Amino acid sequence: MSGKARFLTFEGGEGAGKSTQIRLLANWLETQGVEVLLTREPGGSPGAELIRDLLLKGAVDRWLPISEALMLAAARADHIERTIKPALEAGKWVLCDRFYDSSVAYQGAGRGVGIEEVQHIQEIAFGDMRPDLTLILDLPVEIGLKRALAREGAKSDMEDRFERMERSFHETLRQAFLSIAEREPERCVVLDADQAIERLQENLRTIIMDKALLS
Ligand code: TMP
Repeated sequence: MSGKARFLTFEGGEGAGKSTQIRLLANWLETQGVEVLLTREPGGSPGAELIRDLLLKGAVDRWLPISEALMLAAARADHIERTIKPALEAGKWVLCDRFYDSSVAYQGAGRGVGIEEVQHIQEIAFGDMRPDLTLILDLPVEIGLKRALAREGAKSDMEDRFERMERSFHETLRQAFLSIAEREPERCVVLDADQAIERLQENLRTIIMDKALLS
């Protein structure tokens, strides 16, 4: 089967299990005859991966919130032009671990840059580039942070600058993602991420089928 190229993004706070779910979904889509490109943000192109390093490592107060928003938009513009658009033009499905909404939630709401300001910055950087579907994995902050901490303990890349921000910051993010879903119910689906990996994966596949994205 080879339908239309689709652009799917996965969003949520820390420790929601996005990366695991994306990998499982990509494997399943391939069994359905879909060619998939898995990518992530910040990153996904050589230049954007360099910016990722700057953003995710080091002291919590390393950057001003506005500098973060600008760097993320710069990285995203590069990622879109050099990775996402070529893959979509080649007929692939693009599955992206975080995108536009993470900047709205993290920098716009969490870091206080302002939602409209972040939207404006992104518009300047790359115009309008919206996913066909955004899956928001929602989970209580406490559980997410605990999971994220366990994961970081097992890794050595120290990409935990945002995880180390205050608890109230993470609560704000959660609400910001839920508000995005309320504002754009056509594009966004919220899923309860506090459930077994297999169950959550089943739910994701059902959404893809229900929305007839494979045809
Ligand atoms: P992740 O690989 O766990 O998703 O880590 C990416 C981190 O970067 C995560 O803490 C959220 C943060 N981030 C932003 O603050 N704004 C953004 O626009 C993006 C894409 C990520």
